[in-house]
Amino acid sequence: MPEKGAERGRTLRKVRLRWSPLSANDVTHHTPDPAIEAIIRSHADWAGGLMPALHAMQHHAGYIDRAYIPLLARTFNLSVTEVHGVITFYKDFRTTPPKGPIVQVCRAEACISRGGKAVEARAVELGATEPVEIEEVFCLGLCAQGPSVATGGRMYSNVDVAGIETIIGSAVRREPAPVVPPTSGDGVTVYVPRDAAARAAGADDVAAALLAQPGVRVVRNGSRGMLWLEPLVEVVTAEGRIAYGPVTAADVPSLLAAGLLSGGEHALRLGPTDSLPWLAQQQRVTFARVGVIDPRDADDYVAHGGMAGLRAALAMAPSDVVAAVTDSGLRGRGGAAFPTGIKLRTVLDTPSEQKYIVCNADEGDSGSFADRMLIEGDPFQLIEGMIIAGWATGASDGFVYIRSEYPDAIETMQAAIATAETLGWLNGVGSTAGVLGSDFQFRLHMRVGAGAYICGEETALMESIEGRRGVVRAKPPLPAIEGLWGKPTVINNVLSLAALASVLADGAAAYASLGHGRSRGTQVVQVAGNVARGGIFEAAFGITVRELVDVIGGGSATGRPGRAVQVGGPLGAYLEPSQFDLPIDYEAFAAAGALLGHGSIVVFDDTVDMLGMARFAMEFCAAESCGKCTPCRIGSTRGVELIDKIIAGEDHDGNMEILMDLCEVMADASLCAMGGFTPLPVRSAIAHFAADFGDQPHTNLTTGANA
Ligand SMILES: Cc1cc2nc3c(=O)[nH]c(=O)nc-3n(C[C@H](O)[C@H](O)[C@H](O)COP(=O)(O)O)c2cc1C
Ligand code: SF4
Ligand code: FES
Repeated sequence: MPEKGAERGRTLRKVRLRWSPLSANDVTHHTPDPAIEAIIRSHADWAGGLMPALHAMQHHAGYIDRAYIPLLARTFNLSVTEVHGVITFYKDFRTTPPKGPIVQVCRAEACISRGGKAVEARAVELGATEPVEIEEVFCLGLCAQGPSVATGGRMYSNVDVAGIETIIGSAVRREPAPVVPPTSGDGVTVYVPRDAAARAAGADDVAAALLAQPGVRVVRNGSRGMLWLEPLVEVVTAEGRIAYGPVTAADVPSLLAAGLLSGGEHALRLGPTDSLPWLAQQQRVTFARVGVIDPRDADDYVAHGGMAGLRAALAMAPSDVVAAVTDSGLRGRGGAAFPTGIKLRTVLDTPSEQKYIVCNADEGDSGSFADRMLIEGDPFQLIEGMIIAGWATGASDGFVYIRSEYPDAIETMQAAIATAETLGWLNGVGSTAGVLGSDFQFRLHMRVGAGAYICGEETALMESIEGRRGVVRAKPPLPAIEGLWGKPTVINNVLSLAALASVLADGAAAYASLGHGRSRGTQVVQVAGNVARGGIFEAAFGITVRELVDVIGGGSATGRPGRAVQVGGPLGAYLEPSQFDLPIDYEAFAAAGALLGHGSIVVFDDTVDMLGMARFAMEFCAAESCGKCTPCRIGSTRGVELIDKIIAGEDHDGNMEILMDLCEVMADASLCAMGGFTPLPVRSAIAHFAADFGDQPHTNLTTGANA
């Protein structure tokens, strides 16, 4: 990985002590491990190297021995307190050995809506007696197929109580993760997705079974986004690609016998992929290539229009590139919907020798998985978009910050960066040739999060890249003026940066011609939770929540009436069915007191108890608050306590009144949207589902999917 290039940006940390080995004072209770010393030493020159060093140490030893804190402090020119502060801030880092393999169980809303509470409870129960470490996580990016679990490099979806018992049993036996078959073979081309959601549903086994047959070439594509059909297998025929799904490895013999390789009839045959209603109704721009190409094949990317945007941009003056982005009407897809062109313009116009492009791939919202799928299905598009942003603003270095819960996306992105360097699309270590033969040099670096939701907030994310606790910075200064290491920085969501490639390739007018009101272009909606047909649906702004939930999503997965949807992640409002005609449009949502956020829709059936979901909102905020400001840090904990009193039937009216006051304080006085928007789900639950907040004790609190 090309880390050295980042040194050029390490302007804030001027003094660097020379690395020296552990001293007798550093480690008193055991012999220093030379391998760990070597790990620390190998990160000494990385910009913000503490976090990557901690990840590597934990990967090596299973935990971070506190005895190495003094050495870490000396190596990274920090105080012992600062290093300790970083280790304790991030949930991923542990300072004691785990008692066994780690089993991560998702406890966020989309999984709750599909019966996740029961799975979580059973996991915790088993964790008390079995030699495994149960880690509760907020979202693994498999939100349309929850409950979701990850262990030993493998992900599992649609887990039930029996399923978690089996998974924990395999973890205890330390069964190895199956090998991931890459694109390989020779013969008729069959696409089998390598996307994490498809893999969790068994796609690797299907690929292996197909590769065992002579005359088959398996291509590992991204997912088409029809997640209820995963693993979706497509065979290339003279009539185009024919889809089958969901396919298991056990289905492969009967599929082959039925003539799979020539598109033969079978109970799992769905027909020509492009004619499937879910896909045919979409207007795919950002996701146009996802599921179509082999994401690791740069030739395939170029053959499907890749690099056209960058070539067009390099032929234009930076200022004209920024003007095109402004004219396209593109607004940030990470949640705040800020015009991307204005951000680029500010960075372009701020003089500095060093500027940065940062990609926010932290995607912590429950119900969101578009960033993950884009990176796993079309990583070169993100790289292309980031280079365009670099050219437009005069930035020479970019950072992609991906959450640790996305191992497949991390691996895919690393592979794509390495390929792009080889092809001269990016500058690698020591390379000074310009991008695509131009004079413009651009380097891309990766950083991995460590289990902190708040690091999706842009200033906390930059703190994290710099190797610090993910504590939110007060604004101003804006990141565009003083961002990463105090330099002008463009920080954008994955989808915003990826969209730059199509804006430049197809022209601003083409992008601006799509949309609704001031919301231009397309929105990649993620339909998740308790829904029959969940997945990615990219359409021009203006489509309604009802169309997405009832028509496209097919109603609830349980077949029971839908009762609520939460749009925009854990900080988003709950809507009830009479509000489902709301169009997907930033202004329409704001007017309704709701939040479009990153475009996720989490569906709940009529077994949901909204008092429980209001409690979850406060609990989530308490768990994920960065702690900088009091309304959020203390308010969220008080919120949980108040709701617990309401659940117990204690002074109902008085506690409801205090809860509403508390929401007002949090909304008005929090420094960032974490504390500021947490009242949205709480207040909307109270406003639209008042029956769930009655004054009797709530002894049988349920949380959805017949829980
Ligand atoms: C608590 C919190 C979490 C956030 N999480 C994310 C995230 O996971 N991904 C993201 O792109 N933006 C997230 N944001 C928004 C970012 O702060 C920032 O607005 C965004 O990265 C800017 O990119 P955009 O203009 O392309 O949307 C979050 C904001 C807050 C307050
Ligand atoms: S609102 Fe919460 S997350 Fe945001 S700065 Fe304050 S304490 Fe940190
Ligand atoms: S995987 Fe559980 S909410 Fe996303």
